[in-house]
Amino acid sequence: MTPPRTIRNIALIGFMGSGKSSVGHLVAARLGFAFVDTDHLIEARAGSRIAEIFERHGEAWFRALERQVVDELEQRDRCVIATGGGVGANPELLASLKRHALVVCLWMSPDKLWQRVRRQTHRPLLQVPDPPARIRELLAQRQPVYRQADVLLNADNRRLPQMAAQVIKQFRLVARDSLAP
Ligand code: S3P
Repeated sequence: MTPPRTIRNIALIGFMGSGKSSVGHLVAARLGFAFVDTDHLIEARAGSRIAEIFERHGEAWFRALERQVVDELEQRDRCVIATGGGVGANPELLASLKRHALVVCLWMSPDKLWQRVRRQTHRPLLQVPDPPARIRELLAQRQPVYRQADVLLNADNRRLPQMAAQVIKQFRLVARDSLAP
């Protein structure tokens, strides 16, 4: 039997560039929750940036660290967790998040994602000759898992405060005990 969920955190999943960190910071500030970013936890543990981890150790090593930090988050309380784009695309990591968090997916079209990431260089998976095609391909692969989030938010045209408000509204519906009186 599946144990009951105790939703005490919020996890934001979605593709690279969909705004998980920006929305997460705002939601955390408004709720008085801690803000946690899985990529930052991985970088702190490895002592190097994500791009260097990929370069020196390869993607499989990065994914192993990612799994470790996501598993450890099950112990946390009153956190808003921004995840790296691969976390919400992995069914086991998604299941781990769902044990303690309301999982919200920020949904963005490939064109919008490309507009947002085109001038950034820190994402190894997008350092390819045709990044827009890579975005479409990865998004198509990942979307069946992303769609299993508890809440799907269309982030294409919404402003940050509106998205944060939506996340908080959904969280309040399911997690009364985690909120200060
Ligand atoms: C990845 C997303 C990145 C980072 C790594 C791999 C992915 O995080 O974890 O480059 O597989 O989608 P962001 O989604 O914060 O860019």
